[in-house]
Amino acid sequence: MGYAKQTLDKEGQINAQALWKYMTIENPYQNYPTWPDKEGFYESTMPPGNILKLYVNKIALDTIVNKKGTFLDGSLLIKENYTDDKKLFLITVMYKARGFNPAGHDWYWVKYKPDGEARLEGKVDACIDCHVGVAGNDYVFTGSIK
Ligand code: HEC
Repeated sequence: MGYAKQTLDKEGQINAQALWKYMTIENPYQNYPTWPDKEGFYESTMPPGNILKLYVNKIALDTIVNKKGTFLDGSLLIKENYTDDKKLFLITVMYKARGFNPAGHDWYWVKYKPDGEARLEGKVDACIDCHVGVAGNDYVFTGSIK
């Protein structure tokens, strides 16, 4: 068990394009469970209050449901961001890959356009600087995992 080898490039590094292929073609995330009490569309707590959908893979779901306190290697959290009129415009991802960035709890961050183009990827300060506020909850805002 651990993160998927398909998400690595030839040099053995996590790669946003390989991850996109993995989560949309090999293992389409629309078939994943959603965060337990967040089925379907819901509103962001952040201005301007985008509409969200939050998918989690089975590895991540186990941590959420069983309150394990830390997401296990291979956990994948995929947040779709929609406009008020329900047009998908952004997909933000947190992917746990052991050894990637121990100081940041090994989260790999990506911001994708709906066509899969990665605008930001890896150790993204812009993401980490805000999510670090919930480092005690393994960098995750949506619900307590303890
Ligand atoms: C200014 C603060 C802030 C920044 C910057 C930010 N986020 Fe978040 N993020 C949040 C909040 C708050 C939530 C909870 C959902 C909501 O209310 O919008 C969240 C939720 C998430 C989730 C769902 C898991 C969770 O933590 O609940 C993912 C995945 C995510 N963000 C990825 C990213 C990525 C990738 C970036 C950088 C491109 C990023 N975020 C930048 C505040 C931020």
